[in-house]
Amino acid sequence: MRKSRIGILTGGGDCAGLNPAIKWVVKAALDERLMAERGKQYEVVGIHNGWEGLINIESSIVPLDEEIVRTWDRYGGTMLGTSRTNPYNAKNDCSKTVIANIEKLKLDALVAIGGDDTLSVASKLSKEGVKIVGIPKTIDKDLCETDYTLGFETAVEVITEEIDRLRTTAGSHGRIFIVETMGRDAGWLALEGGESSGAFIILIPECDFSIEKVNNLVMEAREAGMRYEIIVVAEGAKPTGGTQFLKESCEDAFGHKRLGGIGELLAAEIQQATKIETRSINLSHLQRGGTPCAYDRRMGRYFGIAAVDLLTHNRYGLMVCYRNGKVTSSPLENVIGRTNRVNIETQYDVDRYNGRHTIIGKEMHSGKPE
Ligand code: F6P
Repeated sequence: MRKSRIGILTGGGDCAGLNPAIKWVVKAALDERLMAERGKQYEVVGIHNGWEGLINIESSIVPLDEEIVRTWDRYGGTMLGTSRTNPYNAKNDCSKTVIANIEKLKLDALVAIGGDDTLSVASKLSKEGVKIVGIPKTIDKDLCETDYTLGFETAVEVITEEIDRLRTTAGSHGRIFIVETMGRDAGWLALEGGESSGAFIILIPECDFSIEKVNNLVMEAREAGMRYEIIVVAEGAKPTGGTQFLKESCEDAFGHKRLGGIGELLAAEIQQATKIETRSINLSHLQRGGTPCAYDRRMGRYFGIAAVDLLTHNRYGLMVCYRNGKVTSSPLENVIGRTNRVNIETQYDVDRYNGRHTIIGKEMHSGKPE
């Protein structure tokens, strides 16, 4: 029997959790016990550097087996490499080359692990007849249709650990520390990283903030005896009436500008207004680094296995997802081009600029039964 050939790639920004997912696609596909049940045999090849590896195929393909990937789930980043290459970039459309190369490489199906950009390419290829399934990853957790995206929890761990370190020095010097996190237009990383580390203020893109109000909150805290403050700000947050801060004005192949710099501005403004020494730190790519936490290893495993399950049942054009405590799937076209953002009505406290202090019973306060 001819083996069905699965190609697997990772695209977009790297993060922890990619290698566990790759490992489990390989292990689930090559599982001896399942082979008989499936009536299908697989081989798996890795594709280097995301979609770039299907444009220039010379030396971009590597056979994968259980021995090769055995220890991969312990490592961060992606052993396959990644890129932000967009084959459907209007300035240089290479999508026909990608489709021709998929045939040339005799790939029967593809597993694409990525965020909105990578999966938007997957969705377009699927519409052109490529048999493809997606696995969600991004530290931003901004994909729709899924409650989890690989890399998020490890990034939250990094934020928490770094803030723990900052607390001792902030306390010793009585300083304010501004910690800038990634996350693009979604505030999940800042909010959940800030909640995990007990930050005093958390500023997110979903709620424009007043610098005056931030200053007032700080002064009130000092008057109440607080010795130092940790303020977490998402790279995409902005003051009321202002615009997002850009590191560079040029765009990547998917049209994204690089955000960053709000932390420094905020530190300068707070210091000037409160006369309290204020420093800023941008956690930047540290949030994407390090070994995957236990949760990312487990979710990478479940997502990898689920991707192979979908292929086994000839279900394509779908993204594996995690919803309401279950691993399931959703059409790629329902995922892409939308952003999953923090709901400030139910998940944010606009008066404290922080996570909510009540969770159950919002409806109760408005007189509606729960
Ligand atoms: O989407 C993941 C992410 O880390 C964002 O949070 C951040 O804005 C962006 O990627 C940074 O991308 P790059 O590593 O290409 O600068």
